[in-house]
Amino acid sequence: MTRSPTFLPAWRALTGEAQTLGKRHLRELFATDPGRVPSLTQRAGDLLLDFSKQRITAHTLTLLHDLAREAGVTKQIDELFRGELVNVSEGRAALHMALRAGSKDEYFFSGKNVVSAVALERMKMRGFCQSLHSETWVGCSGKRITDVVNLGIGGSDLGPRMAAQALSSRARQGLKVHFVSNVDGADLGSLLPSLDPQTTLFIVASKTFTTQETLANARSALAWLEVGLDVTDVLTRHFVAVTANVAAAGAFGIPEENTFAFWDWVGGRYSLWSSVGLPLALAIGMDDFEAMQDGARKMDLHFRDSPIEKNLPVTLALLDIWNGNFLGAETRAVIPYSFSLGLLPSYLQQLEMESNGKAMDRDGQKLEASSSAVVWGSAGTDAQHAYFQLLHQGGRLVPCDFIAFAEADYPLPGHHDRLLASCFAQSEALMSGRSEDEARNELIAQKYSAEDIARLLPHKIFPGNQPSTTMLLPSLSPEALGMLIALHEHKVFAAAAIWGINPFDQWGVELGKQLASKLLPALTDGNEAPGMNPSTHQLIRYCRDRR
Ligand code: F6P
Repeated sequence: MTRSPTFLPAWRALTGEAQTLGKRHLRELFATDPGRVPSLTQRAGDLLLDFSKQRITAHTLTLLHDLAREAGVTKQIDELFRGELVNVSEGRAALHMALRAGSKDEYFFSGKNVVSAVALERMKMRGFCQSLHSETWVGCSGKRITDVVNLGIGGSDLGPRMAAQALSSRARQGLKVHFVSNVDGADLGSLLPSLDPQTTLFIVASKTFTTQETLANARSALAWLEVGLDVTDVLTRHFVAVTANVAAAGAFGIPEENTFAFWDWVGGRYSLWSSVGLPLALAIGMDDFEAMQDGARKMDLHFRDSPIEKNLPVTLALLDIWNGNFLGAETRAVIPYSFSLGLLPSYLQQLEMESNGKAMDRDGQKLEASSSAVVWGSAGTDAQHAYFQLLHQGGRLVPCDFIAFAEADYPLPGHHDRLLASCFAQSEALMSGRSEDEARNELIAQKYSAEDIARLLPHKIFPGNQPSTTMLLPSLSPEALGMLIALHEHKVFAAAAIWGINPFDQWGVELGKQLASKLLPALTDGNEAPGMNPSTHQLIRYCRDRR
């Protein structure tokens, strides 16, 4: 039995809708419907989602809601929250919502409410933060810890790294938190000279505790400490682990009391809310970390309890499906007009592309429709001066998500309004474009000659009709950030529910890892495995010959 949504009646109706609507310009959609903005705006708490600049009408939205209903989204949300084994290929639940649960909430896994176990681990985190902040926890030589280095990659890096930068205006003084993820020695190697082994603590964050990049960095960090400290028990005061594989952390030498555990039912890219958030909690304090969890919890309740028609994550999922499957967009740009949120696009790349970058449904049947868009982007206004030319005049359909905050996190006089004006101007320019007549009139007003007008006119026309959604929040507070992240987590789930895919596995990253471990001996010792691809052989030879 196929789960492909392409066989659903709403899918067929939407195919027809795309053909009709495809011919209409967003300018016309605005001009012909005075109620467009209220009907294509939704709210959850203080979060405002304006998707009136998307290439849809209220009728399209109704059809999209039909699609969500026919695909059984509500039932699947229910299964997620009930702790069912929604990660079917790995036989796991996905209960990241339990990590930000309130004390009276209930999340069951295998018949057991996990909320108290989560609270215990959170208390352990709080205790550790307090002892480091109060300088009760000191290094081997009795000096206070001034620098914390998180060694992790993917989900064990991107979340806390992104959030620590996002909330940097709230960072505690006296403790610097660094993130090292890449196995390229340039990452750790360029940081170490600025650190003092006596005052540095490493967090080894790895759900599996088998990830080669992280283990290579952990071994190098340990070697650096052992040389720098001249004592044997550096692991007890300078290393902690964050993992779901406590035994492997123990085998590495990290004592159990220094190990923060989490559970198999937490996916790596959903793990920020667990002890993977430890470097963030150290950077901003546990109270702010919990405020971020509270924001995410608000979004959990909104997602669980709101009808499809008012459900923001479902709306975002439907817009992605509309743009990707019906209008043919291959990518989506995420442009936070917030310097502090500059790492959000990278974080969302993993969240969306590792979750939903799949061409088979959860039963292993080929998907009849494309799934996740290629997600990319960076902070505005820098983005404007880099690649917005292509968005405005490149002729490709690139839906954009704009994210902005009413208030500044670093309030320098005169800056924030300029930032917001740029954000709103870009979404409007992308939407409306500039017609031939408008371009000509502008050139005439600027007193260009007829000859110059003829020459310049084609370059001055902007087709517009480029769709975008704008998300607004009052300020980049921990709570707002929590809401925003959970909004995207649940958007990913809702889209997967419609496509019929499992967003919680990532088999596609295995092959490269396996090949890399086979190729390593060829690079280090020249031991080439039989049957090596001739191109790969050439690349390895080149490197060996030049060492
Ligand atoms: O390579 C993919 C991946 O498995 C991600 O899903 C995960 O977040 C990352 O590697 C790191 O894994 P771990 O936390 O187990 O080191």
